[in-house]
Amino acid sequence: MGYGTIGSGVAEILRVNRDVIAKRAGEPLELKYVLDLREFKGDPVEHLIVHDYETIVNDPEVDIVVETMGGVEPAYTFVKAMLEKGKHVTTSNKALVAEKGAELIRIAREHKVNFLFEASVGGGIPIIRPLLSSLTGDVVEEITGIVNGTTNYMLTKMAKEGSDFDEVLKEAQANGYAEKDPTADVEGHDACRKIAILTSLVCGQQVDYRDIPTEGITKISATDIKYANALGKVIKLLARSKKVGDTYVCRVAPYLLGPSHPLHHVDDVFNAIFVHGNMFGDGMFYGSGAGKLPTASAVVGDMVAMAKHIDKNIYLEWEEEPLILSNPNQQENTFFVRTGASKEEIEAAFYHVEYVDAGIPDEIGFITVKMTEADFARKLESVTDVRQTLRLAD
Ligand code: HSE
Repeated sequence: MGYGTIGSGVAEILRVNRDVIAKRAGEPLELKYVLDLREFKGDPVEHLIVHDYETIVNDPEVDIVVETMGGVEPAYTFVKAMLEKGKHVTTSNKALVAEKGAELIRIAREHKVNFLFEASVGGGIPIIRPLLSSLTGDVVEEITGIVNGTTNYMLTKMAKEGSDFDEVLKEAQANGYAEKDPTADVEGHDACRKIAILTSLVCGQQVDYRDIPTEGITKISATDIKYANALGKVIKLLARSKKVGDTYVCRVAPYLLGPSHPLHHVDDVFNAIFVHGNMFGDGMFYGSGAGKLPTASAVVGDMVAMAKHIDKNIYLEWEEEPLILSNPNQQENTFFVRTGASKEEIEAAFYHVEYVDAGIPDEIGFITVKMTEADFARKLESVTDVRQTLRLAD
């Protein structure tokens, strides 16, 4: 369902890797229908195109359905109908999984089929399955990820080649990395849904993505990059989740990362997810984070898993019970600030700071000591002409 970038990638992989997939799945996976509003004249799937999802719902020959349409509706209605008819579903749609994941998992369980979504986070990187099946002996205490390929590509090009924001966004769109509406990428909404999914999986409850403070990269300028260079750091859009007592604290924001940070060297469209487990220690999942074939590869991996478990539900622990996230204002950080204010004003507000000179006239940068978000916001109120604030990743 959906013959866009990812959907057409799935069809291509089923064609190119047909034999090896048949061997692993136990029988060939035959593509029977392609649901799309468009026609695709001359495309190898031209004769498979249908426009009404009920054609698929009502065909008992269809065992496995792939949803790559994006967005919550009509994807939710279609996916729910497929599961209720006893068809397995895999999706790359993080908006759908973040909003309805727990419910669709329950519906799949009730109908003895599977709802899988490996491609919804980290493109082609296996991260969902490792969290759900390999790290089950651990309490996951931290997940920090670069989980949006578009913005990582943009920040890398802006930092390394001095590229302009709009121009490099167009390149990311042309490469098939960006969402249909790229606001979801650049404003951090896509990363927010992905960290909500990962946090739900490690706690087994429903994390509401609306509770996660989210900032994107639209306010990052060439001047900020000069300060990052002066500090020997890079700016990356991070999606973070840390265990606090019985719950987690989450945030999506651009951070300054030093060279010793495990995500410092993750560039271009690559994604990486750092995971800390209480027994496992530290681990990193790294790879192609967006784009046609990497994302489609994760979808096809789910199809093979479903073909191998055609009469069996694989139990996933993600219940509908909501998780109340910890108050993000109590989270501690060090902060970087750019301002046109005087040193007297800065020191009156923050007392101890470390100044950063990036050679920008009429302004100064400084780094605070570690303090809570609430404390930082209160102190910042008495500093005039604030031009940028960023967090430092520890
Ligand atoms: N727009 C997303 C990204 C696609 O850039 O990461 C992969 O989920």
